[in-house]
Amino acid sequence: MRVKVSKIIEHCPTIKTFCLEPMDTYKKYFAGQYLTIHTGADGDVLRPYSLSSSPTNPGSYEISVKLIEGGLGSTWMHSEVKIGDELTCEEPEGKFTLQQAALTSVFVAGGIGVTPVLSMVKYALAIKDTRKLFFFYASRYLKDLVFHQELLDLASENPNLIYVPIISGDQDPEWTGKRGRVNQELLEEAGVIFKRAEFYTCGPDAMMSDLQELALSQKVSKSNFHKELFQVAAPVNSGFSGTLNVNYKGVDYEYSKEQSLLDFLHSKKVRVRHSCKSGICGSCEVQLKEGEVRHVNEEFFSDEELAEGRRLACCSFPVTDVVVDKHN
Ligand SMILES: Cc1cc2nc3c(=O)[nH]c(=O)nc-3n(C[C@H](O)[C@H](O)[C@H](O)COP(=O)(O)OP(=O)(O)OC[C@H]3O[C@@H](n4cnc5c(N)ncnc54)[C@H](O)[C@@H]3O)c2cc1C
Ligand code: FES
Repeated sequence: MRVKVSKIIEHCPTIKTFCLEPMDTYKKYFAGQYLTIHTGADGDVLRPYSLSSSPTNPGSYEISVKLIEGGLGSTWMHSEVKIGDELTCEEPEGKFTLQQAALTSVFVAGGIGVTPVLSMVKYALAIKDTRKLFFFYASRYLKDLVFHQELLDLASENPNLIYVPIISGDQDPEWTGKRGRVNQELLEEAGVIFKRAEFYTCGPDAMMSDLQELALSQKVSKSNFHKELFQVAAPVNSGFSGTLNVNYKGVDYEYSKEQSLLDFLHSKKVRVRHSCKSGICGSCEVQLKEGEVRHVNEEFFSDEELAEGRRLACCSFPVTDVVVDKHN
């Protein structure tokens, strides 16, 4: 897709929101999904950015990008992209989306992880969803709670939204709100009843793992706990030696190294769509037709989906000869 930058909001020196207008057909999206932007001078650094806008505002998209020191994509977005520029991106995608029919949805965001859950809460309010909504927005510093005012406004206009901002650092002496971490006490004090709640969380890995452990210990089912990771270490193999045959889209390649299917095909100059290379975004999905791979991501697909042959190329390490095709 081609999109044009119509507006840039600089919330603070490290976070900018880019408003994007589609130049051809507008593709719909679900709250929680992301756009993969082709960043860099050659457009070859693909980076996923969650949509922070609500799908109830069709015809435009918003993404918010945090500048990562030394980061290729985010630095380019911050220093090079100007109003009026045209960008290439992939169509909206992602499985971290707001599910229908819940009594209570609890959103927990850490730092820039606010983007997908902000989209969800804006969407739920816009469609006048009757569920109870809790939004916990945590950051080390007050200056990084860049959507604080927007959430305060939403909460004051919508009685079914309880908004709890929380600062974990000991700076910001003017802050009179909550301090510390999002824990059981804080959640229950705000009124969360675990057995009725489904959770959506995006932020640092440690925050999400602690929360998941807590939620599961309070009898929240695994299927009611949803999380989105922005960054994880790339999967690695545990040791393989030998030679196998990888047939991709009808062509045979000799596989003899410890490489993910994605890295292997790239080393053979075969283009496979990808973005995060770490089992998060799902854009490298392939169809395993024959043979076996070790899939080092236990959570991405359900058992049924695995049985249908769905695999992530970045997480797949062939252990037998394999026949693989593009995912439809
Ligand atoms: C599904 C999905 C949605 C995402 N949504 C957003 C979003 O809404 N807003 C946003 O700003 N980012 C988001 N990200 C992260 C984003 O895609 C990039 O990974 C991020 O901008 C860093 O890319 P980079 O090219 O600047 O850094 P790179 O050049 O990839 O990395 C440079 C260095 O920074 C480290 N690094 C990479 N990412 C991070 C990080 N997040 N925190 C700390 N260190 C890091 C790397 O380990 C490396 O050492 C999302 C990622 C995923 C998978
Ligand atoms: S490239 Fe993102 S899951 Fe494989």
